[in-house]
Amino acid sequence: MELKAIRGFSDILPPATSRWRLLEECARKILEGYGFSEIRVPILEKAELFARSIGEETDIVEKEMYTFEDRNGDCITMRPEATASVVRAYIEHKLYAADPVVKLFSIGPMFRHERPQKGRHRQFHQINVEVFGISHSMIDAEVMAIVMDYLSLVGAGGCQLQINSLGCPRCRLPYKEGLWTFLNKHLSQLCEDCRRRMERNPLRVFDCKVPGCQEIITEAPLISDYLCPPCAEHFAAVRGYLETLEIAYEVNPRMVRGLDYYTKTAFEVVAGGLGAQNAVAAGGRYDHLVAALGGPDIPGIGFAIGMERLLLILPDKPFSPGPSLFIAALGEGPQREALGLSHKLNRARVRTMIDYEGRSLKAQMRRADKFGARYVLIIGEDEQRAGQAILRDMEEKKQEEIPLPSIFEEIVRRMGEGSP
Ligand code: HAM
Repeated sequence: MELKAIRGFSDILPPATSRWRLLEECARKILEGYGFSEIRVPILEKAELFARSIGEETDIVEKEMYTFEDRNGDCITMRPEATASVVRAYIEHKLYAADPVVKLFSIGPMFRHERPQKGRHRQFHQINVEVFGISHSMIDAEVMAIVMDYLSLVGAGGCQLQINSLGCPRCRLPYKEGLWTFLNKHLSQLCEDCRRRMERNPLRVFDCKVPGCQEIITEAPLISDYLCPPCAEHFAAVRGYLETLEIAYEVNPRMVRGLDYYTKTAFEVVAGGLGAQNAVAAGGRYDHLVAALGGPDIPGIGFAIGMERLLLILPDKPFSPGPSLFIAALGEGPQREALGLSHKLNRARVRTMIDYEGRSLKAQMRRADKFGARYVLIIGEDEQRAGQAILRDMEEKKQEEIPLPSIFEEIVRRMGEGSP
């Protein structure tokens, strides 16, 4: 039987890996600039963590988690998202002890057993960002500014920010009742899943993909009509700060997000050209999650960027890792020289390749071309005896002789990090 990767799980091959790394490095740089520190949390957690945070009635927990019993009989889940784990770590290690304000980011794979399609995978990667300890609406706007800043820096500036307020438990209760009453009037038109959900958490009916249910939902009451005064004020303030930061946004009153822990501000960043899976990034405030998982009463807000989706919308520019060198060595002595030199150059971050097979100069030049080498260093036995090598600039189509003792410095000067 042919061995292949599991459906929904992809290999990331070169040269795409360079683009991935670039996105990750860029995220680290930007986030560290905004005062975030990196946290790395495990891929496996107790299943209970996600049921208690994301919510029992959500699609993620109900249908999509990779959950299994391990060899000790413990019920384990491969993390479907990072927020729950980061909150658990924040509580477990009392990261709030010195100061509740903590800004953390993490980058890594997540797992959801969804139906794979464009922009939807079973293993996918997120850049995940969380801020703890700030309830002021300024941070909501700032967090959204960070997402938009990052996206435009990596070349995805055309995305649209959509925001909504999901209220707090105080305003959510009458809203849920209003929604239930509305849904109850349309009971016969709802799918079986929705009928079950509406009894336990009517908000989850918004996640339904069944066209009949979607049609009914467009008429459903909106949370914005039920916001309590503090939540309404908070939302108005967030919008004001977004305007101060000159971040364009649209209010989407029907966005409820697919995870239960959100309160107040929720947002999604959508992009054209992604089809149905159009959210490149999403997040929101979760003021009661830390307490719900057994920690102190500390608010939080965050977001995650889906890296596969981000790569889908980025212009397909070929990644340029910088100039490279091929050393064409002819004969035993020159090959030894080439091996030592390429090792030294690679350590100095000059991308260098050599030939191992003792091929003809013509064949080696062909390999250099395939490697996309900007320079080729030719060392033959005659050159070596004369203490010289020939450096050919493939772009300028020029060549010059360089004394072997100064060859390393010469090449680093032309091609090393920081050279033009
Ligand atoms: P989420 O909306 O479930 O939120 O996922 C965030 C992003 O991850 C989505 O907008 C999308 O770009 C990407 N994503 C989700 N599922 C898939 C999939 N199956 N295939 C490819 N990409 C996917 C969260 O995960 C929250 N933890 C975000 C957050 C952080 N909220 C507060 N802090």
